[in-house]
Amino acid sequence: MEISSGNIENISRAARVINGGGIVAFPTETVYGLGADALNPLAVSRIFEAKGRPYFDPLIVHIADISWLERLSFEVPPQAMVLARRFWPGPLTLVLKKTGMVPDIVTAGLDTVGIRMPSHPVALDLIRECGTPVAAPSANPFGYISPTSARHVLAQMGDRVDMILDGGECSVGVESTIIRIDGSGVPVLLRPGGTEPERIAEIAGPLATRTGSGTAPESPGQLPYHYSPVTPVRVVDDFSGLDISDKRAGYVYFMRKGDDTGTGRIAFLSRQGDMREAAANLFSVLHRLDALGLSVIYAEKVPLQGLGVAIMDRLARASKRGRESVEGAGHEG
Ligand code: TXA
Ligand code: MG
Repeated sequence: MEISSGNIENISRAARVINGGGIVAFPTETVYGLGADALNPLAVSRIFEAKGRPYFDPLIVHIADISWLERLSFEVPPQAMVLARRFWPGPLTLVLKKTGMVPDIVTAGLDTVGIRMPSHPVALDLIRECGTPVAAPSANPFGYISPTSARHVLAQMGDRVDMILDGGECSVGVESTIIRIDGSGVPVLLRPGGTEPERIAEIAGPLATRTGSGTAPESPGQLPYHYSPVTPVRVVDDFSGLDISDKRAGYVYFMRKGDDTGTGRIAFLSRQGDMREAAANLFSVLHRLDALGLSVIYAEKVPLQGLGVAIMDRLARASKRGRESVEGAGHEG
């Protein structure tokens, strides 16, 4: 497998692959996706196979034109329309009642479908060129960290995909925020992500959260140990008490606190403590440290503001890998 630059010819070629039932990795502003024709169940099943993803975990359907909303969903609450108009194209997924047009394999049998319009120009061009909605999870093996570059996709998925389109480094760097509007119009946060919860609340009112554990999660991808590197991750309050001379450990700081002095094991998410920069760097830092074969990665907590909510969500899940015995095993199947 080779990486194809995201030019017009390659986008057209990728669209032909998708229209022919194939699967293509493509850039979005959040993370790289692995796309198939959302209206072709057989093509969609190839995504689950390639990722080793359980069939109870539904996919997000990507559109490039808001008119697809009413074809994919028969009930778009006014609050959802307001959010779509404000944040699309962008890192927001809306969970809505689905129409019969959406195959059951896409939604894992749920009567709702997650829909989003990405803002990356290559993603938009690709979806338009396909002329069909594109179902796409993140382009990583199930449970692993999402890819934020074409190189990550190549390393993780290799020949399990038909084509890899390159669109550079993802500018947001964490997956989309997932919102469901409940019966009374209240927005429910199913997954924190690339659109800050405060900005959504400003427009749609206070967010309810449904991230509890125990019973089957309402957003099935919210399994406790998703987004995990192979190396164990430990989240710590701050690094003041740690000995960073441990050669078997990697360290992820929120802000820059000094120099790495050439070890390659120390990473700063953001020089100045800028939350957007930190989110954009999170997965690439974890990918890089994970490749070093360390025995542990320590990650410093970040403030729970803006994209910090999504960063802490991913770090908490990464740190749970292998520790959730009964509950985790039950969900992952
Ligand atoms: O930014 C993103 O959202 C990226 C890019 C590629 O768009 N996609 C992504 O997809 O993160 P994935 O499959 O890795 O995570 C999507 C999650 C699922 O695990 C599931 O929890 C949730 O979206 N989801 C999808 N459809 C849903 C539905 N009908 N109801 C509740 N949750 C749903
Ligand atoms: Mg994913």
